Amino acid sequence: MAQINEFVSLDREGAVAIITANNPPVNALSHGLRVGLLDALKEAKVDATVTAIVLICAGRTFVAGADISEFGKPPRLPGLNEIFDAIESSPKPIVAAIHGTALGGGLELALTCHYRVAVASARFGLPEVKLGLLPGGGGTQRLPRLVGIDKAMAMITTGDMIGAAEASASGLIDEIVSGDLRAGAVAFGQKVGAKGGKPPLVRDRNDKMVAARANPGIFDEFRKTHGRRWRGQMAPNHIMKTLEAAVNLPFDQGIAEERRLFTELMNSDQSKAQRYFFFAEREAAKIPGLSPDAKPIEIKLCAIIGAGTMGGGIAMNFANAGIPVILIEQDQKNLDRGLGVIRRNYENSAARGGLTPADIDRRMALIRPSLTFDDVAQADLIIEAVYENMGLKKEIFGKLDRLAKPGAILGTNTSALNIDEIAAVTSRPQDVIGLHFFSPANIMRLVEVVRAEKTGKDIIATAMQVGKQLKKVPVLARVYEGFIGNAMLRHYGREAHFLVEEGAMPQQVDKALTDFGYAMGMFAVHDLAGNDVGYRMRKAAQASRPNDRRYSDIITLLCDMGRLGQKTGKGWYRYEPGSRTPIPDPEVEALIIAQAKAKGIERRVITDEEIVKRCVYGPINEGAVLLEKGIALRPSDIDIVYVTGYGFPSWRGGPMFYADTVGLKNVLDDIKRFHERDGFFWKPAPLLEQLVREGKSFADYQAGR
Ligand SMILES: NC(=O)c1ccc[n+]([C@@H]2O[C@H](COP(=O)([O-])OP(=O)(O)OC[C@H]3O[C@@H](n4cnc5c(N)ncnc54)[C@H](O)[C@@H]3O)[C@@H](O)[C@H]2O)c1
Repeated sequence: MAQINEFVSLDREGAVAIITANNPPVNALSHGLRVGLLDALKEAKVDATVTAIVLICAGRTFVAGADISEFGKPPRLPGLNEIFDAIESSPKPIVAAIHGTALGGGLELALTCHYRVAVASARFGLPEVKLGLLPGGGGTQRLPRLVGIDKAMAMITTGDMIGAAEASASGLIDEIVSGDLRAGAVAFGQKVGAKGGKPPLVRDRNDKMVAARANPGIFDEFRKTHGRRWRGQMAPNHIMKTLEAAVNLPFDQGIAEERRLFTELMNSDQSKAQRYFFFAEREAAKIPGLSPDAKPIEIKLCAIIGAGTMGGGIAMNFANAGIPVILIEQDQKNLDRGLGVIRRNYENSAARGGLTPADIDRRMALIRPSLTFDDVAQADLIIEAVYENMGLKKEIFGKLDRLAKPGAILGTNTSALNIDEIAAVTSRPQDVIGLHFFSPANIMRLVEVVRAEKTGKDIIATAMQVGKQLKKVPVLARVYEGFIGNAMLRHYGREAHFLVEEGAMPQQVDKALTDFGYAMGMFAVHDLAGNDVGYRMRKAAQASRPNDRRYSDIITLLCDMGRLGQKTGKGWYRYEPGSRTPIPDPEVEALIIAQAKAKGIERRVITDEEIVKRCVYGPINEGAVLLEKGIALRPSDIDIVYVTGYGFPSWRGGPMFYADTVGLKNVLDDIKRFHERDGFFWKPAPLLEQLVREGKSFADYQAGR
């Protein structure tokens, strides 16, 4: 075997040359790998005894993408397209042998090969859309030629992967290898090599494109069905244009169109935001000052107290990750209800094709129900998820302190209570930590890991590690009212309600927010979640409100009228029976106008621009406060929280990234204007003022830490 360079080797079996790529962990098409591939191809081509070439990868996967750390930097030759041309123009057939995932540039590489074989567990996808891009290595032109336009539209606009069976049925791969991949690929290579003649090129296959031309309405139909999801986003719309080019233009013109649109996306703010966000997730895992003394504790058993909305979802996360759970309730009725919900959730996933009945049984078997508090004694991690009540939580932590084994982590899922106060009832506050999951906990990826005053470093390290094990995005926060996310949400919610009192209607506010990129506006969300969420708290607070601040009571009044939201057929909007479409309701509009009048507010015309600024700049200003107080470690952590937990559009990078794109001075100028006009809530954050004074951005602030 010849080692071509650090990343590529060349081997022989009979008349078949085998090029092996080895660039752990995912064989990304880095510069070194590209150089090696090109050299190996040259050698295999000139060897007259070679009749076919197999391209295979070492390690856990086929090439799983381009090297995204090279994105946005000056290109280093040879580029991807040079490799692709060298493969496609090879007079000897090249067989891609695929295991793991052929993703992005990896799948495009396979598409330039003359044949593709794969193991049954292999998966295939073009996920570029998730970074605000499109496949720029011919993927938009070659994939539809193999799989047809319908499947190509579905795969490329969602970025979702398909399995080997589907790939085989749709024509993406030529054979599923059941035994050893390398042996199977070599046998396949021998067969096609022996045939001789010019190898077949994907670019020459036009039958499926000709068929698509017979149905010119196909693109508009697809846009009609899926376009709502892409509102405001460039990448999926550009992808559709490249696919139209694949159908309507000769291959080389289609490639030119793909390249032009790819470049546009690569230079767009949207893709920059999405690539920033990709790296922000990795960054969040790094906790300064934690290593090397902090060692994660291995979690072999988790106990969860409370099988309600949150406890049940959290238990599913552990079961999904293969970690046994004891689920402890106060009585049989609540336990049965909780377990019933878990089973139904699993059955729903199974109905959608995500799980087999055996998977459900395996996961349910990992969740052991219990009514005995003493069972916490065996657990390495305990997560309390009972009602949001300080007295109750203190009682529970007192018990945990007596029963849990030494060194066990004592976690709480509280949304708003002071974790220092909870920790103080135990003799081991160093082991107490907040693990703030979001609802539905089995689906939402965000977990705020909340370190209390005395939380130990090994406990923090373990909590971050557990988050990762559960396939979540853990973000470290400190104790503060609402931690990171809910602290920011307060400002968003308040402004949305004030805007309605001042002159906008719910439908205008919601439309401005969805046009900005939110999947739903504030009032549609209220109606979905139920306007009575927090009702008791709001009622209780009414009596003790400080009188230097303004409040909006419309949501409370709606509840008093029985307008709880979708579940009662009316809330901020009304709903036709069986429909979730919000319809503006004159009754609500009259209530809003009367309420404004009663408060002496003169209603005025409010622009969409003002709606967006007030709903977005409030959280940004609070974000600066969170940084200043050390509640959040970095601006990008705040962005992760607000995008993954609160629906802020990822293609805007998050509120802090968005503030940088607007320019901090512009943001601060508006905040000052709002402060002058509306007072109290808009006090500019000193950190924001400081950054503007120094001519810096949040990105500069993060880089300088
Ligand atoms: N629901 C959300 O959206 C959400 C989101 C994040 C965090 N939280 C927080 O999670 C916690 C739980 O909220 P939830 O929505 O799941 O509440 P829930 O009312 O759905 O469930 C609470 C469960 O705790 C059980 N319980 C009460 N006392 C108990 C005891 N002494 N021993 C054992 N079990 C007991 C109850 O029977 C009930 O099943 C709260 O602190 C809440 O603030 C909720």
